[in-house]
Amino acid sequence: KECFRKDYKPPPYVIDTVHLTFLLNEDVTRVESRLHILPKQTDEQRPPLFLNGRSDVKLVALKVNGEVAPEDAYEVNSSGLTLKSPPAGEFDLEVHTECQPQNNTSLEGLYRSGGNFCTQCEAEGFRGITFFQDRPDVMATYTTRIEADKSKYPVLLSNGNLVGSGELDGGRHFTVWEDPFRKPCYLFALVAGDLAMKEDTFKTCSGRDVALRIFTRAHDSGRVDFAMQSLKRSMKWDEEVFGLEYDLDLFNIVAVDDFNMGAMENKSLNIFNSRLVLATPDTATDGDFARIEGVVGHEYFHNYTGNRVTCRDWFQLTLKEGLTVYRDQEFSADMNSRPVKRVEDVSRLRAAQFSEDNGPMAHPIRPESYIKMDNFYTLTVYEKGAEVVRMYEAVLGKEGFRKGMDLYFQRHDGQAVTCDDFLAAMADANGEDLSALGKWYSQAGTPRLTVTTDYNPSDKTYKLRFQQATDATPGQPEKAAVLIPVRLGLLAKDGSEIPLKLQGGADLGTETVLRVTEADQEFVFQDVPEAPVPSLLRGFSAPVRMTVEGQTDEDLLHLLAHDTDSFNRWEAGHVLAKKLMLVLYSAAKDSNEGTLEQRLAAAGGVKASLVGAYRSLLTDSRVDGTFKAYAISLPEMSELIDKIPGADPTLLHEVREFMTRELAQQLRSELEAAIKENDCVPGEAYEFSAAACARRALKNKALGYLSALGEPEVTEQLLRRLKEATNMTDEISALAALDRAGARLGGTASGVEARTAAMDGYYSKWEKEPLVILKWLALQAGSNVPGNVAAVKRLMSHPAFNINNPNNCYSLFLGFARSPVNFHAADGSGYEFLGDAVLAVDKINHQVASRIVGAFTTFKQYDAERQSMMRAQLQRILDTQGLSENVFEIASKSLKA
Ligand code: ARG
Ligand code: ZN
Repeated sequence: KECFRKDYKPPPYVIDTVHLTFLLNEDVTRVESRLHILPKQTDEQRPPLFLNGRSDVKLVALKVNGEVAPEDAYEVNSSGLTLKSPPAGEFDLEVHTECQPQNNTSLEGLYRSGGNFCTQCEAEGFRGITFFQDRPDVMATYTTRIEADKSKYPVLLSNGNLVGSGELDGGRHFTVWEDPFRKPCYLFALVAGDLAMKEDTFKTCSGRDVALRIFTRAHDSGRVDFAMQSLKRSMKWDEEVFGLEYDLDLFNIVAVDDFNMGAMENKSLNIFNSRLVLATPDTATDGDFARIEGVVGHEYFHNYTGNRVTCRDWFQLTLKEGLTVYRDQEFSADMNSRPVKRVEDVSRLRAAQFSEDNGPMAHPIRPESYIKMDNFYTLTVYEKGAEVVRMYEAVLGKEGFRKGMDLYFQRHDGQAVTCDDFLAAMADANGEDLSALGKWYSQAGTPRLTVTTDYNPSDKTYKLRFQQATDATPGQPEKAAVLIPVRLGLLAKDGSEIPLKLQGGADLGTETVLRVTEADQEFVFQDVPEAPVPSLLRGFSAPVRMTVEGQTDEDLLHLLAHDTDSFNRWEAGHVLAKKLMLVLYSAAKDSNEGTLEQRLAAAGGVKASLVGAYRSLLTDSRVDGTFKAYAISLPEMSELIDKIPGADPTLLHEVREFMTRELAQQLRSELEAAIKENDCVPGEAYEFSAAACARRALKNKALGYLSALGEPEVTEQLLRRLKEATNMTDEISALAALDRAGARLGGTASGVEARTAAMDGYYSKWEKEPLVILKWLALQAGSNVPGNVAAVKRLMSHPAFNINNPNNCYSLFLGFARSPVNFHAADGSGYEFLGDAVLAVDKINHQVASRIVGAFTTFKQYDAERQSMMRAQLQRILDTQGLSENVFEIASKSLKA
């Protein structure tokens, strides 16, 4: 059942062309597939041909070269069809099958959403449509004919160009699509339905006009403008930055409500989760707009990195995903604020990917094995994969990186290749040996980098010693050193930058990238006039955990005030806050005297230096508002939990809330000033621009701080803001702040009442808008109101909740798993609830269930009682009859590790 990377073998047959006919119906859908097959071996060696096929696909006819195949010529089992002895030479194989998309709740293969037909084939969904060699290294050209009832399904779409259409008897009609580019079957797509369409055009750099079409259900068609603009910006950006021009005359996007993931890059027919397409200022937040821009870009960029050049096998997934995430990050950075984007991306990586890399499911960005490939669409493959791509850029520079990309396309256009091919193109284009980067593909775990510094005043040298080590991960006890590019500068006491010169080397300016490749390595700078404060790992130039020995609070404050690298300025404040949070947590943990508040106060509370640092950030008019909002944000618990053996998540949450209240109190006047300065101007129209977002971000951050105080006046203000909000960003921020105020331990009755009233009001305002209600579900599910489990259970039978819809499950169940108070309730009720959810959802949708069970995989981070309760849930799940392979893989590997 488990597949291994080392077992890769090229396919024994090539499928050259595919002709598909879909006869879509309400009950039984028929798929007729005609394959033209080329042998790869000589005629004497004709191995059996195996075609993957899911057990809900029923074979109704099989023809070889036009002749019905006798029953003993083939064999069908639950995983596919074997043609025992294929004919000599080239041949045609016709496979007729039946399936029932209306009963397909897995949302893989052909299924129905909102009354329409659609598909999702990555990774291995095509075998849910027909029997086929379902693997990415089989690249064919496709012609697709779709027939359906005309009134129910006026729109019939597939990949490529429309080459025919017409009327049929019985009120039916058809279209024929031809995709001239070879592609693996995971990029196949079909959509049929009653859809509204918005159209625009894009003129490419060589002057071709491309029709751009976005399809939605009728009542959503007024919400696609932003996605359309994002698409046009993506197309232009890829031409300008990578010289990549769109290659067909048509590009379609279809929005569907039922979708397991974010979106899918099917050739010229992208299918999106509707939450990543539809946006208006009153229904979507600034964060939603940013994600839409990023994901529209991401899927578009796949046209080259993924489609034109694809993966040889699924172990290579990061080849397309890491690279495409890197490309969408760069796109967003160019469209908005680059420093803010970097802080966001690194925060996400450290809050979530680092714990994945430190847990039972840790895997290299190029995994060695899997049971279900769908379980490996992970933060590691995507986000760490993007960091690995970014390291090429750090090492080669932007120009060198572009040269490598050009060579990669020159060599591999139209091919299915490997991560090694990418590395080779980067290396060869630059005449560099990059083999040291190769280990990042094979090694799991986050390297720890320890830096020791030594200034010698007598000879004016400054020594940096780097020591690296990576902890063992499941199945990988030994770790080698990896190449760590360290971008750095040195700051003098007056805040200026010291020119860099390595001993015996050339002048390097004020910033350079050191290549650390050994377990223990030294670099010596000369002509350093005074002991500097080093600014290391600028821009987070490598995905490592760095510790700088002897780094003081003063050093961090110096960096916060003076560093020219904005990422490291943010990082300095962040490290200060982390240090303090850890100190306070220990103080709270180690004593039992007095209330928590008293214990934390006795331990010194929030240090004046942190308050001072936040104050000067808040009042610094040169700093961007969004950046400020991030700079005064306390670290997420998930970033700290690794540093606390046997952590008590509820206590850590309380400590974080205490710090928030202290900061709110001490910075009250600055926070109030920030709210005033950045408040909406009456009558001003919403704009998704960096400047407008910055104002909302800072204002809402400040309101969030004040809400932690739980004061009636603040609650009043929030209720008023909730009512008067003119955009969803402000509206949901007010609602979240009211939830937080109401959830405060020992909070006032009025706060609790206000929370309830606000939630009810929001629901009646938005009950007709499922995407807006997702936010409401997530807020309530993730609330830290003590004893919230019962309320979340009730939500499951609320008319707004539909367990068959992945977005609903993610909002409710994953939202709940984010609550330190309720998911981690000491009585185990939260774990029990989520365990039940996994089992209930697994009967409907394996991929969604598998993502929910992921909430248990971090159990090693917590105290002994919680660990054993979480393990017990995993065991209970594992002991259940009829469990999916998806959930089995996560639960069994977690318990084994
Ligand atoms: N290739 C898609 C993207 O990253 C993700 C599809 C994942 N689907 C899945 N079933 N695992 O844009
Ligand atoms: Zn992708």
